[in-house]
Amino acid sequence: MNALVLNCPGSAVETTIPPLRVRNLAVSFGAKRIFDGIDLDVAEGEAVSLIGGNGSGKSTLLRCIVRLVEPTEGSILIRGQDVLGLRGEGLRRARSGIGFVFQKHNLVPRLSALSNVLHGAQARAKGPGVWFQSLASSQMRDEAMTWLEAVGLLPQALQRVDSLSGGQSQRVAIARMLMQRPKLVLVDEPDASLDPKTGREVMELLHRLAKAKGVPILIVSHRLEHVKSYSDRIIGLASGRVALNVESGLADPASLRSFFEDAVS
Ligand SMILES: Nc1ncnc2c1ncn2[C@@H]1O[C@H](COP(=O)(O)OP(=O)(O)OP(=O)(O)O)[C@@H](O)[C@H]1O
Ligand SMILES: [Mg+2]
Repeated sequence: MNALVLNCPGSAVETTIPPLRVRNLAVSFGAKRIFDGIDLDVAEGEAVSLIGGNGSGKSTLLRCIVRLVEPTEGSILIRGQDVLGLRGEGLRRARSGIGFVFQKHNLVPRLSALSNVLHGAQARAKGPGVWFQSLASSQMRDEAMTWLEAVGLLPQALQRVDSLSGGQSQRVAIARMLMQRPKLVLVDEPDASLDPKTGREVMELLHRLAKAKGVPILIVSHRLEHVKSYSDRIIGLASGRVALNVESGLADPASLRSFFEDAVS
């Protein structure tokens, strides 16, 4: 964790700010209030699941963190920096450290899986070598191939993305995000279009990333088994509020199930 020392008049108060801290966040679309008063923290190396019924605001919350949705109130601190005030280059720099995979993957359909994964390196490198597999350095290409292997797509590396299935495209998007070497990871239903075995493997991979590299991860999932097995803590949204915030090992099965009643995939 980032240990920040705040100097108060007359005394030094030491406090620890986790890599992601959301406070009093509110979002409305027109007159429609989606949520308010949302507080959450994700610690270094912690995998947190975000659960809730359809329309409870999970995707909106993730999109606020990368500033694709502007909240009406609140603060979002990433490694101590309030990202809501950021514009231009500052915002670009903050975003380059966040690996996000949303429900729409925005892959380049006419390019190969490998080229799409290379695009993840644009957060840290420039030039045509991070656009096209044929121009990439062997080091970049090896790294991209490692991530394609990690998501089980080595045989499809040179296949065009528009010839892949939905679940395979999902895994390309995850490999691209991993290529970015993110400092914070936000993933929206990474297991949604995957078969059970691949879904487990992807969730395991994300969990390993948190544990092995200390990367904080916030994952939206509608699969109760995945939520229980691959997260350290579970945060549940309901009626525009954080209605549950519990260590996954201590979660009461009945209250957990209530979050999935209208949201089973
Ligand atoms: N750009 C937008 N303009 C207006 N309303 C929006 C917008 N984006 C989301 N909403 C509304 O905000 C609410 C929350 O949507 P959100 O996509 O965050 O839910 P969710 O919890 O991710 O649901 P799901 O489980 O179905 O993915 C929904 O009622 C949705 O219609
Ligand atoms: Mg959603």
